[in-house]
Amino acid sequence: MVPLPNPATDKPLAAATRIVERALVGETARPAVTTFFDPATFTASHVVHDPVTRVGAIVDSVLDFDQASGRIGFAAAQRIVDHVRAAGLTVAWLLETHAHADHLSAAPWLQEQLGGHIAIGREIVTVQNVFGKIFNEGTEFARDGSQFDRLLDDGDTFRIGELDVAVLHVPGHTPADLAFVVGDAAFVGDTLFMPDYGTARADFPGGDAAALYRSIRRLLRLPETTRLFLCHDYKAPGRDDFAWETTVRAEREGNVHVRDGVSQAEFVAMRTARDATLAMPKLILPSIQVNMRAGHLPPPETNGTSYLKLPIGLL
Ligand SMILES: [Fe+2]
Repeated sequence: MVPLPNPATDKPLAAATRIVERALVGETARPAVTTFFDPATFTASHVVHDPVTRVGAIVDSVLDFDQASGRIGFAAAQRIVDHVRAAGLTVAWLLETHAHADHLSAAPWLQEQLGGHIAIGREIVTVQNVFGKIFNEGTEFARDGSQFDRLLDDGDTFRIGELDVAVLHVPGHTPADLAFVVGDAAFVGDTLFMPDYGTARADFPGGDAAALYRSIRRLLRLPETTRLFLCHDYKAPGRDDFAWETTVRAEREGNVHVRDGVSQAEFVAMRTARDATLAMPKLILPSIQVNMRAGHLPPPETNGTSYLKLPIGLL
């Protein structure tokens, strides 16, 4: 079995661990988290804020999209705007844990309403290169991440008000996945799901089940009472309600795919077999085309309308 990542030699993990510990002992404020669940895409968008300064960040927002008509909408994002205004928050960051394949990001629209900087992992450039080819984008589609306000690396830190945030690169589901550790809360994107549901798939272009295992084991070295906030929930057999918050301890003890004691080889065999049975997400083609542009639609054509492509036979 691959040993658990060791905070003694993993400096970004050690820094993230210290941030969690300081919040747990009351040395720093514990962040407030409000979650908005979008049942159309099973996505949990989180608003995290510093209760002292009331500065906040929005993690993984959703733009409504009706594939049949090509219509976009702002109902899900408006709920976040309403919450931010009612709570009197200042939005500093619009954080993307990765380029999502199952929903369109509302980050640019939210930025217009609320301000803040759009940030994603630096490896988005890999995603832009892979999908730039798949969608046969021209040179006007920059593959340098410049559509985003900030590209983040493993070990980067920044602040939300007075809350320290540590960035962990947790590839596997995609090459660009990040987790954001804010006080005693960690926003883990598509890595772990609820213990009774398991883990994210690793079969998209650029995905890697072994890398996902190592990323998850890294997250599970955070203190046991770290609150984990997930990007998706699909319920699980025997569970009637959606859920998106758990703890490191609950995942280590009970995750059906990756609890303590499951080896990398066992995980990779399970994940690979399961992924082979999964259909592509309904919205993968529109989602990636928009999300690789930081949530912007492709530039309008000469008639003023934006179009999305359907590559035939490539996925
Ligand atoms: Fe995803």
